[in-house]
Amino acid sequence: MELAHQCIQVLDKNWKGRFTIPSPRLYPFQWNWDSGFIALGNLHHKPERALTEMEALFSGQWKNGFLPHIIFHNAEKYSSYFPSADYWNSGVSEEAPADLKTSGITQPPVHGFILEELFKAGLDIQRISELFNKVSSYHQWLYQYREYESTGLVAIWHNWESGMDNSPWWDIPLERITLDELEYIQLERKDVHEVKESESTRPKDLDYKRYLYLVDTLREHKYSGIPDDFPFQILDPVFNSILLASTESLIRLGKVLNKDTDWLSQKLNQGTESFDVYFLDDEQDLYFPYDLVGREQLKQPCSGSYIPIFAGIPSLARVQRMLKPNREQTQIRPFPSCHPEGVGFEQKNYWRGPVWVNMNWLIWKGLLNYHLSGEAELVKNQTIGMVKEYGIFEYFNPFTDNQSGTGYGGADFSWTAALVLDMINKTTS
Ligand code: GLC
Repeated sequence: MELAHQCIQVLDKNWKGRFTIPSPRLYPFQWNWDSGFIALGNLHHKPERALTEMEALFSGQWKNGFLPHIIFHNAEKYSSYFPSADYWNSGVSEEAPADLKTSGITQPPVHGFILEELFKAGLDIQRISELFNKVSSYHQWLYQYREYESTGLVAIWHNWESGMDNSPWWDIPLERITLDELEYIQLERKDVHEVKESESTRPKDLDYKRYLYLVDTLREHKYSGIPDDFPFQILDPVFNSILLASTESLIRLGKVLNKDTDWLSQKLNQGTESFDVYFLDDEQDLYFPYDLVGREQLKQPCSGSYIPIFAGIPSLARVQRMLKPNREQTQIRPFPSCHPEGVGFEQKNYWRGPVWVNMNWLIWKGLLNYHLSGEAELVKNQTIGMVKEYGIFEYFNPFTDNQSGTGYGGADFSWTAALVLDMINKTTS
């Protein structure tokens, strides 16, 4: 069967009437940045679903503008996910919706640039205008609660907020949580029962305990603050690149919709000016997270190191220098979540080595904006080729010649389907 048709089948299979689950069983609710990517795919299939998907996501928005990373629609029907809605217990905050359970952390703010795509596709302007207000109040929340000093950059307080759950980037901050502090935690993991080879393809139990420790601490603070000694306070270049790109989209869109965008322009300028100061490693021509506790960059070459290309941050000359090593390493697929020479690399383990389609899509889009159509075409063709050969999986082995199986994690993974569909439908020249 043709790949585009397979992608459409996955989008249909995971559609639940108002929103799309990321993957059957493994992720049975609505996830934040997944929904953004999925909406893009639906523009090539059922455009109206793209709007409905966004509206369902924002039905979980809190009164103060916060947008959670999981919306537990129909929580009572599904028990195959841990930590569950009851574990998160969003009701500890008066800001949470009374009628819908959610998590208490967020995910990369893709919604601004997604909304601009929905607008360009000519969807209902009234619904877009209402969504604009919601996305804009989410950005307000980010700047009010998470901005670091007056940099225009925002901090993440949990590795899950990065969307790159067990990236080696987070090893140093997470190891600050001592084994003693983890003794009380009872694990009830469900994910490991849903995928093959879980011992080598998913985070370890010890990692998971640390993730839960952070959740427990944040819950104690009603998800709106942190104690002074909180171990995980990071400026992430991926989260902030996406924030800047979305802010830019909101400014363009806001002008058309007659909204106030001055405050967004101010934040965009501040964030753009601060970006290199915190994230750039000039010698390696790569971008790294800045650890606000250790006061240093976390220097591991990861796919996230390239995402500033999506936001148009590096100069054209720098982008070309950034790409050169990748071109020379033909045995490695672009862009591994951790470079094989990086400390902590594991070829099958989630965000510690495998290739993820959403990261490639972001880099591909960025390259198109730089008019690097040859480079963009290569990323696009390698990504489509990989999915065609191995299936619509969650993540893929980064080695072109590996013998031990290639697609891992959830099968029928929605954002892989959606973004490949988008790539197939767009010519790059
Ligand atoms: C995993 C990914 C995260 C994604 C979620 C649902 O946790 O790391 O980025 O949003 O699954 O697909």
